[in-house]
Amino acid sequence: MKEQIASVQEAAMQQISSILNMKSLEDARVSILGKKGSLTQLQQGMRTVSKEDKPAIGALLNEARAIMTAALDMRRDQIQLELDEQAVADIDITLPGATLPMGGLHPITIVKEEAVRVLRRMGFSLSDGPEIEDEWHCFDALNTPADHPARNEKDTFYFDSGKLLRTQTSTVQARTMEKQSPPIRIICPGSAFRRDAIDATHLSAFNQIEGLYVAKDVSVGELKGTLEYFLKALFGTETSVRFRPHFFPFTEPSFEIDVLLQAAGQQPRWIEIAGCGMVNPAVFENIDQARGTDIYAGCTGFAFGIGLERLAMIRWGIRDIRLLIENDQRFLAQFQ
Ligand code: DAH
Repeated sequence: MKEQIASVQEAAMQQISSILNMKSLEDARVSILGKKGSLTQLQQGMRTVSKEDKPAIGALLNEARAIMTAALDMRRDQIQLELDEQAVADIDITLPGATLPMGGLHPITIVKEEAVRVLRRMGFSLSDGPEIEDEWHCFDALNTPADHPARNEKDTFYFDSGKLLRTQTSTVQARTMEKQSPPIRIICPGSAFRRDAIDATHLSAFNQIEGLYVAKDVSVGELKGTLEYFLKALFGTETSVRFRPHFFPFTEPSFEIDVLLQAAGQQPRWIEIAGCGMVNPAVFENIDQARGTDIYAGCTGFAFGIGLERLAMIRWGIRDIRLLIENDQRFLAQFQ
């Protein structure tokens, strides 16, 4: 029996060492260790072994099974390793991997952050107000009477409750003056909404950045200097800027600011990017009256409201404002 075990073991070890693939490995496992395998058959021969030899023979058989199982496992690992090596043999691991597309900031966000950075450096701090507003903050406080065309149903999105989507970020002027005391120096970037027909320079939901400076003896020169500095910091010192007299109920005198847009393939043209002016004393009176104070008596100030989409158009020479809301990757990918 001992010799039989030794010869089965030797034959099995030889068979295992010549195996080249998984299929013959499995066949070998069955033919050695399987139900009818050579070793299993030897084990069945235990019945004929004498009582006193049984422990020693049994131990030998168990040992043989352990050795062959280990040899089969080792051969399997070797074959698997060879297979793995072959599988990657043709792959150039020094090639750069496929990059995942990364998102980026929307041009409006980029320009908003740049504008806020410049204005904060000039001493303005951030203020805020709601997009769903009441008529008082959007119009009355800002000296815009009930019969003013901007309040018309055709121009403003009203809710049944009488509230409205703010038509301008100027609402934040009123809200800030209600809460703070002069001197005030704030900016507020935010969305505004109008029932405008959409075209190459108008959207019905758009973004502005509002500014308000209230102190004593503020001059038109400071207003002009501040905004010119701001625009040149944003677009470069060569930027062409012009101030045109205009009318806004909450400023007196008032101006519109135009900047020259130089879009590829188009004649340069002036586009209006902001309204501004010296705070109308009627606004100070409205706020004081609402607060029951006279802290704005003797104050002067300037205010401005800049269109962020328009700034983006000038910054990158964008010919049509609608490109900014179409979410076309071919357009947006340029800003990433
Ligand atoms: N709110 C005006 C608009 O949306 C822009 C504006 C004009 C803002 C003059 C101001 C200002 O603060 O002083 O058309």
